[in-house]
Amino acid sequence: MSKALHNLQANNPIGIFDSGIGGLTVAHAISKELPGEKLIYFGDTAHLPYGDKSPDSIKYYAIRISQLLLQKRCKMIVIACNTASAMAYETVKDFVGRQALVVNVIDPVVEEVLNRKKKIKRIGVIGTKGTVKSDIYAQKILQGNPKLEVNSLATPLLVGMIEEGFFNNKISRTIIGDYLSRPRLKKIDSLILACTHFPLIKPEIETYYKGEVEIIDSAGVVARYVHDLLKKKKLVAVQKNPQQQFFVSDFTKSFEKSTRFFFRKKIRLEELGLWK
Ligand code: DGL
Repeated sequence: MSKALHNLQANNPIGIFDSGIGGLTVAHAISKELPGEKLIYFGDTAHLPYGDKSPDSIKYYAIRISQLLLQKRCKMIVIACNTASAMAYETVKDFVGRQALVVNVIDPVVEEVLNRKKKIKRIGVIGTKGTVKSDIYAQKILQGNPKLEVNSLATPLLVGMIEEGFFNNKISRTIIGDYLSRPRLKKIDSLILACTHFPLIKPEIETYYKGEVEIIDSAGVVARYVHDLLKKKKLVAVQKNPQQQFFVSDFTKSFEKSTRFFFRKKIRLEELGLWK
């Protein structure tokens, strides 16, 4: 962002949003990387999954959610969803303008891949139908290094499976194995987990590949990127026990129960009826 930002204050919150609770993996990584930051999370559970929605719908949801996060005086908006990052990042950036910083979950990973010291050549990408259809990872990676090969595969069953708590069991191993054995992913040397739900199945994916394929997940990469950007803008907060708030657009007990997988502890979800 080249132009000066509107009077942002370091102690203002970081807003984070996703289609549901998967983005909590990113929120958790940010809270570990930046313990002095107040976080406001919004999971659009009323519209989950985003992976099957049209770009126009996702842009519309993303704008409305960004408006809410700006009303809550967020200094930064993190789009903690690959599908929304692929389809609505430019729209959100234009809408937000100089009122806040905007970060997506794709650019930090692409930057990480292009700067890797260890040589990787054949990269696999797994994500929602929307993310894979956008072809955004291949476009951005090849723009940075045309010698790399990028093959993407939509793995839509994995999101519902993870949200239902099906991981580390026979069913998840079968579904993961079926997807990863597809011809598109043959002979890859690294795999990008292009969905914020997927850090939860990273150990199973690592076991499948027996350590022979490098698995790149975005949560830690994005958290470090957020830290660097805030440092650069002199906007890092150093608050003691900052408040964290977690909102969803449609509350159910089962979402609240599942938060413990994604945020590594159970958290309280509040409903904010943005669409009601
Ligand atoms: N967490 C979303 C992502 O990273 C996927 C879930 C969905 O389809 O809404 O793309």
